[in-house]
Amino acid sequence: MTRRIAIFDTTLRDGEQSPGAGMNASEKLIVARQLLRLGVDVIEAGFPASSPGDFESVQRVAAEVADAAVVCALARAVPRDIEAAAEALAGAARPRIQTGLGVSPSHLRDKLRITEQEAVDRAVAAVRLARSLCDDVQFYAEDAGRADLSFLIRILEAAIAAGATVVNVPDTTGYSLPEAFGARIARIREEVRGIERIVLSVHCHNDLGLATALSLAGIRCGAQQVECTLNGLGERAGNTAMEEVVMAIRVHGAELDAHSDIDAREFTRASHLVSAVTGIKVQPNKAIVGANAFAHSSGVHQDGVMKERTTYEILDPASVGADGSGIVLTARSGRSALRRRLADLGFPLEEAAFGQVYARFLGMADRKKEVYDEDLEALMAEHDRGHDALWSLKALQVSCGMPVVAAASVVLVDREGGEHPASATGTGPIDATYRAIDEVVQAKGDLREFTVQAITRGMDALGEVTVRVEDADGRVCSGRGADGDIIVSSAKAYLNALNRMLR
Ligand code: KIV
Ligand code: ZN
Repeated sequence: MTRRIAIFDTTLRDGEQSPGAGMNASEKLIVARQLLRLGVDVIEAGFPASSPGDFESVQRVAAEVADAAVVCALARAVPRDIEAAAEALAGAARPRIQTGLGVSPSHLRDKLRITEQEAVDRAVAAVRLARSLCDDVQFYAEDAGRADLSFLIRILEAAIAAGATVVNVPDTTGYSLPEAFGARIARIREEVRGIERIVLSVHCHNDLGLATALSLAGIRCGAQQVECTLNGLGERAGNTAMEEVVMAIRVHGAELDAHSDIDAREFTRASHLVSAVTGIKVQPNKAIVGANAFAHSSGVHQDGVMKERTTYEILDPASVGADGSGIVLTARSGRSALRRRLADLGFPLEEAAFGQVYARFLGMADRKKEVYDEDLEALMAEHDRGHDALWSLKALQVSCGMPVVAAASVVLVDREGGEHPASATGTGPIDATYRAIDEVVQAKGDLREFTVQAITRGMDALGEVTVRVEDADGRVCSGRGADGDIIVSSAKAYLNALNRMLR
């Protein structure tokens, strides 16, 4: 039997640190439920000391997850953070605090401005405090990929002696080459006293496009836990993508002496869900979950695949849930068919919420006739966005064309149900609409990116708009909206981004 590798998901913490990917507590809950369907071992739910919203997210995820997985909260090596993490995890059945600090010369000298000895003292004090509040404590040695190896060994050893149950070796800046990172993990396994009693974890970033390779090198050399995110979401170029590392383990399990217990058939659904919640799409050629990951366009490849799938496919699309259901719903499908399909897609609903979704579904089915899974995912994303929206769109009318000046009138609704009309002109219908929205919301953001895409095929397909908007402090918020009318989608996407910005 090969070694079982624990899958530590940090989509809700490191993933959401990606610009524009911020999630509120309800959004984190939706993703957490999908993480449970995947069967991850650990869910890092947030950084409680960073904001009241993140504190609440950790509490709510912990309540939802119960004992189905370990729930972890991040804390820098300072008492205030560690106490906040422990408090947020108070209701968790299997809590874990992850605490630590930078250990590379650059972090010690330029960021923390402390000596190596001071760093060891801080690490020990942090782990001891965390252990006095929680039985499961993970110590992270930030920027371990660039740390002096003998100092890294020393600080990990001190953290273990102070009570750490897991030590995490991150290549925070994605600097390493896989062989060198693997060698580092091997030296840690050989030389750190007490390492045999605890779990050794790797956490890699993708700055050189090597995050998955680094994680696999770590696993090959003795790591027992791998930290990753769905779609590889994360700071800068992102983190190790869970779908990549898990499928690589599956394909090369014997060589790596490793397996995981993840239900990989959930990957496609998980990827769509994270994109819908964060507004961040994956590129079509993304491994495992990209739209083209199993598409064959050249005649030679098509010929090969038709004769024998494995000529050009090392994975069966069905093994990662990319085979598509082929189920199409219509207005006549009825309530129970919709309820069942939504549950299969990962959206079990209570009666009241289902009633609202069913009404929207009928409106969509009237317009579009055939409703695909992608349409239902968009519909559910709209439904979820509606929950916490400070502003929503009630009505929109535009006039545009040539040679008229584009004009838009909107009616927005605030949380108390108050209606706010406004009108504006602009260089085109979308500019006019956004100016009218700005007049009501008074939270103008700079539009940095705007994309529109048909969700499914056909002239009646929903058009989905994704925007990225930057506020005066340089924070980027993404927003998404879907509708049969792309001007309405554009208005919804912009409002979604402004709602996130205001929150
Ligand atoms: O990349 C990193 O070093 C981290 C730590 C906080 C674990 O995300
Ligand atoms: Zn990280």
